[in-house]
Amino acid sequence: MRILLIGQDGQVGQELLKTLAPIGERVGVGRSQLDLTQPDQIQQVITEVAPHLIVNAAAYTAVDKAEAEPEVAHAINAAATRKIAELAQQAGAPLIHISTDYVFDGGKNTPYTETDATHPLSVYGQSKLAGEAAVQQVAEQSSDFRYAILRTAWVYGVCGKGNFVKTMLRLGAERPEVRVVADQVGTPTWAAEIARAIATLATQWIDPTPNGDVNSSDLSGIYHFTNSGVTSWYDFAVAIFEEAEALGIPLKLKQVTPITTAEYPTPAQRPAYSVLANQKIQQVLKVPAPQWRQSLRQMLTELYSTTYESNYSLRR
Ligand SMILES: NC(=O)c1ccc[n+]([C@@H]2O[C@H](COP(=O)([O-])OP(=O)(O)OC[C@H]3O[C@@H](n4cnc5c(N)ncnc54)[C@H](OP(=O)(O)O)[C@@H]3O)[C@@H](O)[C@H]2O)c1
Repeated sequence: MRILLIGQDGQVGQELLKTLAPIGERVGVGRSQLDLTQPDQIQQVITEVAPHLIVNAAAYTAVDKAEAEPEVAHAINAAATRKIAELAQQAGAPLIHISTDYVFDGGKNTPYTETDATHPLSVYGQSKLAGEAAVQQVAEQSSDFRYAILRTAWVYGVCGKGNFVKTMLRLGAERPEVRVVADQVGTPTWAAEIARAIATLATQWIDPTPNGDVNSSDLSGIYHFTNSGVTSWYDFAVAIFEEAEALGIPLKLKQVTPITTAEYPTPAQRPAYSVLANQKIQQVLKVPAPQWRQSLRQMLTELYSTTYESNYSLRR
């Protein structure tokens, strides 16, 4: 079993390198080995690796920057995803692809299910939705193509370039006050949990019997997966500082002030409510979704031991 992991250097990609290890031989590629804006490179890598399974954790994830460069966002999140899906189908390899809560507009006030209507508010959300559609179109044209689109949300991890948790810790170390948006709610999700969910899915594609009645062809489709629970960016920030303090992470911070989205304008519009319902993945794949705060505590403990104790700067 050879697994091609595209996007190995991202937050989720780095965790996937660990969780996919017991399942098969991983061939991880980052941007330097495979630039997704170059369709020829996609073809070359997939032909050379001849994978039995492809996991795509790479994406254009700069939500605000995407408003200024929609062509690049679409090239990576939509056109490259289509190419990967076509080549996966030709290779007979199932594809696990990651998508986002930002395909929704946030107009609901109960968790979004996989069948709810999409309506992205941003270029990033549109490009990710176009990527989902591309995978589904390839599947419609070929009855034997197996795929899973895993929509997740508010991702943070120890690895990768940066995220909300690392930004809060950096600001909290520099300033007495941080102001955080309190009128957007969702579910913070640890990259390690996403990687565990993907590994569970991958395992069941290889051996579809461990949970009894799961048939590999039944697994194709869209799945929502996040940690469980609901919070706002403001309450998430408060929790980050409380947990950091408990771990002894040094902070200058004295106050976290809640503000409205209108007080913190950004180029991209974000959904006010983007909670994803986890029921389908829990029922079909038996994937647990720990409480978001429990995962935050675990992530900070790991970050503390790898970053602070070895005297690295959070700016790295
Ligand atoms: N981050 C979130 O809050 C969030 C929320 C919902 C869903 N998601 C989805 O979750 C998945 C994983 O996200 P993440 O948080 O792990 O993102 P990430 O840390 O930004 O990682 C994305 C990876 O994609 C790579 N990439 C970007 N452009 C590329 C290109 N042209 N060719 C090859 N590689 C390229 C990046 O490489 P460089 O480091 O070189 O740029 C990076 O390693 C993505 O599908 C994302 O849309 C993320």
